[in-house]
Amino acid sequence: MYSYSIRMARARQAVLPDVPGIHGILQPYADAGVLLPRSIPEICENVRDFVVAEDEGRILGCGALHLYGTHLAEIRSIAVLPGRKRQGIGRVLVEALLEEAARHSVTCVCLFTRTPEFFSRLGFALARREELPDKIYKDCVSCPKLSLCDEIAMAKGPIPANVNGLRDPLVAIPLALRKP
Ligand SMILES: CC(C)(COP(=O)(O)OP(=O)(O)OC[C@H]1O[C@@H](n2cnc3c(N)ncnc32)[C@H](O)[C@@H]1OP(=O)(O)O)[C@@H](O)C(=O)NCCC(=O)NCCS
Repeated sequence: MYSYSIRMARARQAVLPDVPGIHGILQPYADAGVLLPRSIPEICENVRDFVVAEDEGRILGCGALHLYGTHLAEIRSIAVLPGRKRQGIGRVLVEALLEEAARHSVTCVCLFTRTPEFFSRLGFALARREELPDKIYKDCVSCPKLSLCDEIAMAKGPIPANVNGLRDPLVAIPLALRKP
């Protein structure tokens, strides 16, 4: 239970004027290697993926939902201002993104994280990233950490059957694309 002296933040869809605030929250975590960096042009291009939590006009946190199809979406770039952690803001953001996924009839929402404890509180279970080929083809093949990935895959909802017909997408990635 959170202290009642802390007013609950509300989440809403982001709009372009929120971009500097979103970038301002994400960049320090990217600098610290906690989150993938997102440039201002990239956030502008994908701003409709984002929700923000705000209190009296100040952005306190953000998160994004990337849609692959009705079989899968991915939560990305979830972050809360350091001074406002553990006040329920992360939960509000994830719940807003899950609602958005449901609005699109998405059946499984996945994510990749180093803080699985937070997401397990919100109903996500451990998954094998090999079961999520959409993510691997989109991001992992160009990631220098491909074979040394330290992020934990999690999912909420039934893991989709392999829509590409490939049993093990890592096997299917040409060796030349893999980084040492
Ligand atoms: C992870 C993060 C978004 C959580 O946001 P938050 O606002 O602090 O989380 P909440 O206060 O909504 O917490 C929700 C629940 O998760 C728990 N929780 C939050 N962070 C946790 C952590 N690091 N370890 C374990 N449990 C955690 C809370 O105790 C709470 O549990 P409860 O509902 O049983 O009381 C925030 O810590 C953050 O911005 N971290 C840096 C960026 C990051 O790592 N993002 C995730 C990358 S995928």
